[in-house]
Amino acid sequence: MAYLQEQPADNAKAVRLGLIGAGWMGACHAESIAWRLPGVVLEAIADPAVDAARGLAVRLGTGKVRGAAEDLFADPDIDGVVIASPARFHAALISQAATAGKHVFCEKPAGLSLAELDAALADVAAAGVHFQVGFNRRYAEDFRAAKRDIASGVIGRPHLLRSLTRDPGTGSIPGAAHTPPWTIFLETLIHDFDTLNWFNEGAEPVEVHAVADALVEPGFKDRGFLDTSVVTIRYSNGAIGVAEASFSALYGYDVRGEVFGSRGMVQAGRSTETAARRYTAAGLSAATPRLNIELFKQAYTDELADFAATIAGSPALAGAASPPGPADARRALAMALACIESVGTGLPATPANAAGTTAGA
Ligand SMILES: NC(=O)c1ccc[n+]([C@@H]2O[C@H](COP(=O)([O-])OP(=O)(O)OC[C@H]3O[C@@H](n4cnc5c(N)ncnc54)[C@H](O)[C@@H]3O)[C@@H](O)[C@H]2O)c1
Repeated sequence: MAYLQEQPADNAKAVRLGLIGAGWMGACHAESIAWRLPGVVLEAIADPAVDAARGLAVRLGTGKVRGAAEDLFADPDIDGVVIASPARFHAALISQAATAGKHVFCEKPAGLSLAELDAALADVAAAGVHFQVGFNRRYAEDFRAAKRDIASGVIGRPHLLRSLTRDPGTGSIPGAAHTPPWTIFLETLIHDFDTLNWFNEGAEPVEVHAVADALVEPGFKDRGFLDTSVVTIRYSNGAIGVAEASFSALYGYDVRGEVFGSRGMVQAGRSTETAARRYTAAGLSAATPRLNIELFKQAYTDELADFAATIAGSPALAGAASPPGPADARRALAMALACIESVGTGLPATPANAAGTTAGA
């Protein structure tokens, strides 16, 4: 493990964080803060499902439990918030937190439209608080090693880039009926878009062409549910990217990245749970990662360590993994929105320019 945890153990100087949303991802972040980040304190947990917040607080031995995020924004003991509520609340919560002077870590996507995200990011800029979005793959050791190779020029100029996400599944998706439309782009492939953008730093995505279907749960396609997609991306430097996703890999959680360049190729992604291999009469086998919180435990911890280090003013730690900030949140969201447009028309679509104003909103 390479957690970025060299922070003060003295609680008087601790960074104090409030958690908003005590569900699956919120619990993961709460455990990182409470158990794996010295010098960072989980000051309070807010969730309208107060029992969820209370259960988490009791399990982790933390203090304040609140039903409303507003109580965290008003709490002078809190330096920053970690937003892990459902995506439709993110932009408003970012605005409120920033306006109250709290630093903001927000799970992806940081907003569901460019208009609401731009408004939230304007509040972040006006308040001068630190903002980081939860693109955790930037903190995974193998993805960071690949990024170092690309940045050093060892594989030459990027020509082809690939990123894929296959969520663990059983061959059916019980939550399909309640999954918001376009989740595959807005909440899943948005990770892949950021990975590709980060690997191809300095270039802008200028065109996406998305093909998507409901191959696992076709019964919900007419409600906007999609579980399988491939997206091709053209970049301003000529490189061509491919992002693909499925919501049901029977063999576990499979996340990989690859850049093929003029002088070679680099790959990231761990297909086995450990380095152990099992040899039997049936042949060779190995355990595969099953959950995101297993595969990315180190990355989920390090992204919060980086967030807290930046709040504490420790630039050496903050610079360790190019923290994904406002422009990265916006660029990846613009790509996801352009994919939605592309699926609707069957044609390529243009993501709104990262610094820009209108298209795709
Ligand atoms: N980075 C990753 O790999 C990763 C993985 C899973 C989920 N996520 C993201 O995390 C976010 C949460 O997903 P989840 O799977 O934990 O969802 P979840 O449904 O398990 O939990 C969401 C929690 O937020 C609470 N909530 C609802 N409205 C709220 C509000 N206004 N304020 C505060 N809390 C509120 C709910 O009661 C629930 O406890 C989503 O944006 C999702 O995309 C990221």
